[in-house]
Amino acid sequence: MCGIVGVVGNSQTTDILISGLKKLEYRGYDSAGVYLNDQQGHDVLIKRVGKIINLQKALTPQDQGQAGIGHTRWATHGEPTQDNAHPHFSQDQRFYLVHNGVITNFAELKQKYLTGVEFRSDTDTEVAVQLIDYFALTEHLNAQQALQKTVQLLEGSYAFALMDRQEPDKIFIAKNKSPLLIGLADGYNVVCSDAIAMLDQTHTFMEIHDGELGVITNNSVELTDHNGQPVSRQPYQVQMDANDVSKGTYDNYMLKEIDEQPVVLRRIASQYFQSAQSQLSESLLTALQNADRLYIVAAGTSYHAGLVGRQLIEDLADVPVEVHIASEFGYHLPKLSARPFFIFLSQSGETADSRQVLDKVRKLNYPTLTITNVPNSTLAREATYSLPLCAGPEIAVASTKAYVAQIAVQAILAQALGRQKQLPAAQDFDIVQQLSLAANAIQTIVDQKDYLQQLASEYFAHQHAAFFIGRGNGYATALEAALKLKEVSYIHAEGFAAGELKHGTIALIEDNTPVVAFILESQTAAHTRSNVKEVLSRGAHPLIISKNSLADSHDQLVLADIDERLMPILAVVPAQLFAYYAAVERGNDVDQPRNLAKSVTVE
Ligand code: F6R
Repeated sequence: MCGIVGVVGNSQTTDILISGLKKLEYRGYDSAGVYLNDQQGHDVLIKRVGKIINLQKALTPQDQGQAGIGHTRWATHGEPTQDNAHPHFSQDQRFYLVHNGVITNFAELKQKYLTGVEFRSDTDTEVAVQLIDYFALTEHLNAQQALQKTVQLLEGSYAFALMDRQEPDKIFIAKNKSPLLIGLADGYNVVCSDAIAMLDQTHTFMEIHDGELGVITNNSVELTDHNGQPVSRQPYQVQMDANDVSKGTYDNYMLKEIDEQPVVLRRIASQYFQSAQSQLSESLLTALQNADRLYIVAAGTSYHAGLVGRQLIEDLADVPVEVHIASEFGYHLPKLSARPFFIFLSQSGETADSRQVLDKVRKLNYPTLTITNVPNSTLAREATYSLPLCAGPEIAVASTKAYVAQIAVQAILAQALGRQKQLPAAQDFDIVQQLSLAANAIQTIVDQKDYLQQLASEYFAHQHAAFFIGRGNGYATALEAALKLKEVSYIHAEGFAAGELKHGTIALIEDNTPVVAFILESQTAAHTRSNVKEVLSRGAHPLIISKNSLADSHDQLVLADIDERLMPILAVVPAQLFAYYAAVERGNDVDQPRNLAKSVTVE
């Protein structure tokens, strides 16, 4: 999704903006732009479609500034063209604005206030910048006042960074439901939609809450609420290292992040069980114990992790769990139990679909927990409780290590809750040992890359469709495996409940159609093998991934035996590698697949 950067008070502004935009590339974008002002009467606006390198090539050595704003755009309103790229500017070229989010009432505002204005783009953002100018001119307001007046009229989501040619030593900001942070550097200040963009400038950041506005200079930050009342906010330190976000010796982040999964599981075990302070508070466990039903809400890969979490929590903690797709749940709230507790799973902590559900359940005063990889994210801040994934920054758009981390943290939570209730299933479950076994087993899988690459080439790279089937946890894994293959290789893939295939979808099986079967649980192994026979007799090319104790000598990949409830942690890894190698063989950009964004901040 769109990324924002800004710098005020540094003569290296151009370089800082470009380097920040490059760090935000992972979020997905289709055009980029910068506005630079040298505070001595010279300013420049440059925008380009496509990669940041195009923008960089368009900049000349003279294009320098003491302050500036930059943006990567992921098209929502209007095509990815140069005119639609940000920054947008007012008719009189006084104001320049970058925006992340979607303003839902832009057409109405345009009609009401801006009938005489000539628009250059199809974007909601241009309406916002023209409105700021309109109020500045008609009501004789300064930039700060005009921005405040404008945001009071806006509906929807926005993170804004605004510059005014008349006050080029300032960046004006406003935020509602889209991420934005202020970074405090040595002698200058920055803004960004993700701390990753500015980690080489500073580790000291300040949150901006929804509805707040701010004015930033080289040595000051003033925050106010939407009525202009001052807000005081303490900065915080981001512990991440700039090296954590580098590719190291890898060609791309996706493979690096797949390889990091054993380390992530060991880190989770040590953070949750060996650090002096436990991550699981008494208060969280009591709130969970008071609930009569848990509702897991998430999107995409995180939703799939929730499906695996459901079984862990129901088995170990003996409480009913429902798992919901965030974009459906918020608008079709089911009849809730008497004492619900909501768990939000989100790698980024910024997913708009999940945020709208959190907003709704907070208003109903229900307790909430966010499990996220970004501890200062909006979902973490706004939930009653939050737990970290400890996966380290996940940069590739396709989520890999965050998925296994989400399952691991849900297992820890399930065990803690079950032990608090003194349930034998939880007493007997040794999560630390299981995570260690899982880490070793994943290492064995990633060490077989040559073989998995060969399977990816033989089964997927030259196909137009593939199916993944399984039962129980194997079904959840099939859904995630299919999603991975779709998003990076662009091969049409479907995850199916193995027993459901024969009720219609089996009609799609043709000669040589790849069908991957996950055989991960003893209870259903024989039935899933029968389903494999059904597709085999219709010409499919089956690939069986099984658990060692359930394996047959013809299975293509046999995984180590760990607790059945945690088998998805292992079984997803070959699927991630199939997706990766098929995408590489097809010449795709694996880290930034077409049309996708890392942090989906629009509903
Ligand atoms: C797929 C993927 C997405 C995300 C989804 C939710 O690889 O990454 O499906 O899982 O957009 O994002 P988060 O977890 O950040 O809420």
